[in-house]
Amino acid sequence: MVKACLYKKSPVTFSDTGKGRVVVLLHGFLGSHKIWEKTSLDLSKSYRVIAIDLPGHGATPCYGYAHSMDLMAKCVKAVMDHLRLKKFVLVGHSMGGYAALAFADLFPDYLNGLCLYHSSALPDTAEKKKERLRAIAAVKANRGVYTKSAIKNLFATKNLKYLIEEILFANTIAKGTTKQGIIAALHGMKDRPNREIILSLVKYPIMMVVGELDNILPYEQLLAQAEKIKRKTVLFLEHDGHFGFLESPRESNKALRKFLRKCYK
Ligand code: MLT
Repeated sequence: MVKACLYKKSPVTFSDTGKGRVVVLLHGFLGSHKIWEKTSLDLSKSYRVIAIDLPGHGATPCYGYAHSMDLMAKCVKAVMDHLRLKKFVLVGHSMGGYAALAFADLFPDYLNGLCLYHSSALPDTAEKKKERLRAIAAVKANRGVYTKSAIKNLFATKNLKYLIEEILFANTIAKGTTKQGIIAALHGMKDRPNREIILSLVKYPIMMVVGELDNILPYEQLLAQAEKIKRKTVLFLEHDGHFGFLESPRESNKALRKFLRKCYK
């Protein structure tokens, strides 16, 4: 069921399905809670699954010119406070993982586990920051062209010819993201801080999902980060890019379920 709660007088939209222990899903850049449709359906057989539209994405409006990861984390906190849920596992895909790390930093007592789905605790490099500024210019020039090529880049190149429906699905969701929402997220990602310390400090389990063919985050860099985690689970997807739950849903969901059992043991 799709619901909303207020954060700074604007509605944060989320879906709430299933019963039991709680799993919160945060989509990536150009996504919405709908991107998790199949994952939510699968997990909600045994868990209560909350999938949130982050600021400027899906039906959640923009809050300003830049959406910091901290702002995104505060929106997540507003939803969880509204639902009166104080312990859960947080799963963040890419940008959603940056927001999940901000949440772990700001609200350390709320988590039973954290899953970084094709995500990183490192900040943007100087080159990546320049790329973000070029992306902002490209969005201003032609949002449609920009989003189509950005979505294509999230899939492994070799999967592009097979995953026609999945690409169409991701594109349809991306089309719903406003120009302002895209630009605000690009600014927020560009300025996010280093949160590597979280990986080595926390006591709860952390899972990292890594795609060998990821065009956005090089797998070697993610595996090096995973080394720092005390109670780690690593899912290495050798045939996938940046979208494991769409590229290999069965394998990804199976591993996520196993991780959730570990978190809730
Ligand atoms: C995402 O999928 O959320 C973004 O591509 C992440 C990024 O650009 O760093």
